[in-house]
Amino acid sequence: DFDAFDLSEELGFILEEPLTHLPDYYRVWLDLANNLTHLIESRKLRDRVHKMPVLSPHLLSNHRELRLAHLALGFISMGYVWQEGQQAPGQILPKALAWPYWNISRRLGLPPILTYADSVLANWKLKDPTGDMEIGNMDLIFSFPGGESCRGFFMVSLLVEMAASSGITVSPICFLFFLSAQRWPNLKVIKMTQPLRCSDHVEPAAFHGTLRIFLSGWRDNPMLPRGVLYEGVSNEPISLSGGSAAQSSSIQCFDALLCVQHEGETGDFLTRMRDYMPPAHRQLIETLSVCRSLRDFVIKSSSSDLYQAYNSCVSALADLRSYHLNTVAKYVIVPGNQVRSMGCPLRGVGSALNTTGTGGSNVMVFLKSVRNTTQKALILER
Ligand code: ALA
Repeated sequence: DFDAFDLSEELGFILEEPLTHLPDYYRVWLDLANNLTHLIESRKLRDRVHKMPVLSPHLLSNHRELRLAHLALGFISMGYVWQEGQQAPGQILPKALAWPYWNISRRLGLPPILTYADSVLANWKLKDPTGDMEIGNMDLIFSFPGGESCRGFFMVSLLVEMAASSGITVSPICFLFFLSAQRWPNLKVIKMTQPLRCSDHVEPAAFHGTLRIFLSGWRDNPMLPRGVLYEGVSNEPISLSGGSAAQSSSIQCFDALLCVQHEGETGDFLTRMRDYMPPAHRQLIETLSVCRSLRDFVIKSSSSDLYQAYNSCVSALADLRSYHLNTVAKYVIVPGNQVRSMGCPLRGVGSALNTTGTGGSNVMVFLKSVRNTTQKALILER
């Protein structure tokens, strides 16, 4: 049942045809979000937020309007907090931002911070609406500084989700067949590494020096150790993780379906990241994880065809994770070391987040752990 899990039959977890407009009453939000890059670069965003009226979120009436509002307020909040770089993060989100953002987040079951479900799954539009969904005909709705590298970073993530969608849409079916008729349709092999050609679209210096800080959150982040105060919402600062591919429901669904079980800190981090997913998507992962083990079923079948089908899925997932490791080395570790060796970084994330991902994990340790655990799921032929 695709509706129950808020899945698109064609696009998996990607939001179909995201809106780009809200009722006119919310014009000020979209004005800021649409001009975000300019407002951050000219350091005017905070002033503009301070002049914003407190709008009631109650004129937002459907899921796609709420998703666009969450996306817009997420971009504005990240810009507000990080406008002045790592030296002077904003520690208080003003009420005009914090209060409606909080309310909208509660209605969506998402946290009030920019998530992967916002910036990747709901942040795209077609240039020519009659044309195809391919990178040349797609654009972001909202952007951070970083120019083409910002567009490339979110687009490449979206392409991975598009590649994953055929695997996602067969997951529940695959599961049902396995449970009832003991017949297992060919799992479409997850070949997700193909579109992940970051190097064609993202430049390491622009990613690391300009874009990355705007993905950073306020939990497990030495730049904002106490979190951020949401004015008009709570009297204590709140800690929330920044954007992370660990928030991709697709990847966690494949893990659940293939019975790749992450343990210890890695497992805890992945489980916590489910709180940053739309609740219906989280539900699909949980449904797939609590059911009987597909892996045990494959082992018991002693069918070499099933072994092969299963193993090719696991290998594809492990390859994706190896690719991700190399990508992080190139875009995070190497530029981080360069900045450090040059001395005092003025803007950008600099050394503070060098080994910590924007989501707060110890990024290389985490990525190696998930890759190794994936490889361990391979079934060895007897
Ligand atoms: N999580 C990625 C990073 O650490 C985006 O930069």
